[in-house]
Amino acid sequence: MASSTLASPLWLSRSAFLLKTSLLPSGTRALTRGFTGPRQPPTSLSPLSLKPSFKHLSAIPSASGIFAQKSSDLERSFAREDVVILGIETSCDDTAAAVVRGNGEILSQVVSSQADLLSRYGGVAPKMAEEAHSLVIDQVVQQTLDNANLTEKNLSAVAVTIGPGLSLCLRVGVCKARRIAGNFSLPIIGIHHMEAHALVARLVEKDLQFPFLALLISGGHNLLILAHGLGHYVQLGTTIDDAIGEAYDKTARWLGLDMRKGGGPALEELAREGDANSFKFSIPMRQHKDCNFSYAGLKTQVRMAIESKNLSIENNSISSTSSQERRLRADIAASFQRVAVLHLEERCERAIEWAMKIEPSIKCLVVSGGVASNQYVRTRLNHVVEKNGLQLACPPPSLCTDNGVMVAWTGIEHFLCGRFDPPPRADEPEDSMVRINSFWFDLRPRWPLGEEHSQGKSEARSLKRARVHPSLTSIIQGSAQQEV
Ligand code: KG4
Ligand code: ZN
Repeated sequence: MASSTLASPLWLSRSAFLLKTSLLPSGTRALTRGFTGPRQPPTSLSPLSLKPSFKHLSAIPSASGIFAQKSSDLERSFAREDVVILGIETSCDDTAAAVVRGNGEILSQVVSSQADLLSRYGGVAPKMAEEAHSLVIDQVVQQTLDNANLTEKNLSAVAVTIGPGLSLCLRVGVCKARRIAGNFSLPIIGIHHMEAHALVARLVEKDLQFPFLALLISGGHNLLILAHGLGHYVQLGTTIDDAIGEAYDKTARWLGLDMRKGGGPALEELAREGDANSFKFSIPMRQHKDCNFSYAGLKTQVRMAIESKNLSIENNSISSTSSQERRLRADIAASFQRVAVLHLEERCERAIEWAMKIEPSIKCLVVSGGVASNQYVRTRLNHVVEKNGLQLACPPPSLCTDNGVMVAWTGIEHFLCGRFDPPPRADEPEDSMVRINSFWFDLRPRWPLGEEHSQGKSEARSLKRARVHPSLTSIIQGSAQQEV
């Protein structure tokens, strides 16, 4: 596999690079090294990869909203190895792309992170994130193709995240995907970001069959999902306020950690030095006998602990503190992490109980999303899973955090079932590409994955459930009914 991580771009420097190389500020070479790495050895790709014929498209709404080919036609005509899909991901702060073959072989992947922006502004500012995506998207995609020694002509289809996420950011990836698909007459597959986090486990563990249980933990989501089949999910639990990744990021910031590594990884590292029992934070939502999550209260407890020790939460870099104060911050980090993860453990225990009643054949808990790259999280959840006679499927860290591989792979899964949209017109005007709720490809910033399990509904949650889109599962089931 050819893989590159583009160094976190200082976007002003990146902009200079794009406009005129001779104006490069010193130090830019290091920032741009991801674009100029050595070319990878040629792959054994057949000169013409497989593309569906659109002559026989049936007018059935697909996962992404427009048409789909009858899956039986595709299964008959496609060999997995011949399918090659480009995946594009821009839903939050990483610009990522990958090319994956239908059999799961990762031909290349590139990620350009906005960690520098995040550390400077303390969170994702949508407009700035959009600009950063726009600055690098062409290069990220080009490098992905170059690393795989492919051109667009070798692709079978393009998959792109259409939600959930920040509209401005999603739009950058969707416009790029539609431009490529239009110019090279390729089908396009709209991807649900959280489904992609879950399904990438099936690329890694080839034996992982439906049904399975999935815990998806990232910066914006905390989901417990029962996956009955492709596109068929039941939501057992979700967060009623913040996601665990947000709690890691805030705690890391308040403790003065170097956010350029990402808040979660920095906090995990500091927590190794601390005593996890020194601060007695209470475990969230114990009185609620469901599978929902809450991290807002734990964040408040951490903040109060920091203030009670007279630690500053502004201009407080840990690199300039005494060893005694560093130890205190490490104790807070470790105590926070213990309770944050205990909350996950307790909810997973209950979800396993619920899931086994609904689908007794479940054998596996998938844990994915950025926070699943945390070693402590993986170890603790492995105990829970083993105790219950299940197996843990946790993708490698680079496939847990946002990446293009998961998008390409989920595209492959849907593509092989006949769920995709036909190529856009090559002359599609840019400004009409992503009109929300229009005939064109729509974005779905708030998009549930599955329907809520009846026991999973909480009053607190229903208060803030203003949904913009029907869930992925209900769209797919609706189109399947039209098909019969
Ligand atoms: O899935 P992801 O890459 O992006 C979103 O979809 O949000 O998840 C990002 C989140 C961030 O909050 C980040 O701090 C967290 O995952 N994260 C971690 C670790 N690596 C990333 N949290 C805890 N420990 C880690 N090692
Ligand atoms: Zn994510």
